[in-house]
Amino acid sequence: MSVTITALEAENVKRIKAVALTPAPTGLTLVGGNNNQGKTSVLDALAWALGGDRFRPNAAQRDGAVAPAHLKVTLSNGVIVERKGKNSTLTVTDPTGRRSGQQLLNAFIEPLALDLPRFMEASDKEKADILLRIIGIGTELHVRDLEIKSLYDKRTFTGQLAQQKKHFAEELIYYPEAPEEPVSASDLIHQQQEILARNGENQRKRNQLVQLTDLLERQKKVVADLEFQLSTEKQRLTTMQADVKIAQTSAENLQDESTAELEASIRSIEETNQKVRANLEKARAEDEAAQYASDYDKLTEAITQKRADRMALLNGADLPLPELSVEDGALTYKGKHWRDMSGSDQLRVAAAIVRRLNPDCGFVLLDKLEQMDMTTLTEFGRWLEAEHLQAIATRVSTGSECQIIIEDGMVKDAEPPVTEKPQPRSWTKGAF
Ligand SMILES: Nc1ncnc2c1ncn2[C@@H]1O[C@H](COP(=O)(O)OP(=O)(O)O)[C@@H](O)[C@H]1O
Ligand SMILES: [Mg+2]
Repeated sequence: MSVTITALEAENVKRIKAVALTPAPTGLTLVGGNNNQGKTSVLDALAWALGGDRFRPNAAQRDGAVAPAHLKVTLSNGVIVERKGKNSTLTVTDPTGRRSGQQLLNAFIEPLALDLPRFMEASDKEKADILLRIIGIGTELHVRDLEIKSLYDKRTFTGQLAQQKKHFAEELIYYPEAPEEPVSASDLIHQQQEILARNGENQRKRNQLVQLTDLLERQKKVVADLEFQLSTEKQRLTTMQADVKIAQTSAENLQDESTAELEASIRSIEETNQKVRANLEKARAEDEAAQYASDYDKLTEAITQKRADRMALLNGADLPLPELSVEDGALTYKGKHWRDMSGSDQLRVAAAIVRRLNPDCGFVLLDKLEQMDMTTLTEFGRWLEAEHLQAIATRVSTGSECQIIIEDGMVKDAEPPVTEKPQPRSWTKGAF
């Protein structure tokens, strides 16, 4: 069972002259009053009584008080806490009547419950860290967040590459008429060389004809000049005539082949191959672009999976309040960051988390609840009751929503404090 505050009596603490308060066991107890009447001093007195010396107010003793500050807090577990005397000495008495000290209180008093603004003013990250610590998945969540970030960065880079490759492929030219593979020129060059060899042979034969013709001419001259040698030379002449005839016939039938067509083919091969290479390059670029696009999709899938993982981790955790979460290292409630939550949601989140820090501490102190309208107050009060949580809050108001009104350091309409009246002590709570 969590510990709540059953009663407070305070005298001469800060602005308080004398105040007695018996808060509702659960739900909201509002301490009302105008400005500077001592409302916050009531919470300060409670915090000092329960939180120890580090909660001691700067000017704890009321100015002009004759008697020293006196505090008495009764708790639902039967423990009684008192501060009294010149040095405001602490006495803690357990239900069996045994004297104890601050250590006993520390077991069930959560310091943040005495000082909720300290939690509310913490950074988004600090709040998120507190939440993760209490639900015990901080490290695991952090690991997933790092993995998601790394996948995300990788995907961004892959996406940029895919885009670049796509543009590059689009800008390259495609030749639909070009064959798929580069063409070889060596066959044609070989044919060309054979023809050139045959043509060389032809040329040699032509030269031979010229030589023989020359010889014949000379021989005719020899025949004319040397009539007398006619008989001997006639035989040679006849032979030579025959030779010439053969050579002539052969030369007449000779025909040179053209290599023009081959030369054109060789030229066109280079052009064709340029186109083939261009087409191959384009196809490669397109393949690469498609590969990167597919990688991008796979990374998107991985990110979605990791996010789902992370959600499952949070959903599986025992949260102090449903719909609390941590997004990018910051606390969120119903999907909203702290700064975007309504005032009452902020209070609810803070109270729920602080409660979980020490479940034995069944109360929170809340200063300055005037920002809440009546509907929100009622709703917040109901939530506190459902949570079995006690909240003691101040509010600049003298309306009927306040269980007690503080005026000039005293409970309005209560009996005057005993210090001013020689009567036995009687602590009265405000009318509500
Ligand atoms: N030790 C003290 N003795 C007398 N008055 C004090 C002391 N400490 C603070 N005050 C005065 O109390 C007033 C604030 O009291 P507080 O409890 O904060 O009032 P409230 O919350 O109702 O506005 C201020 O005027 C401040 O100067
Ligand atoms: Mg105040």
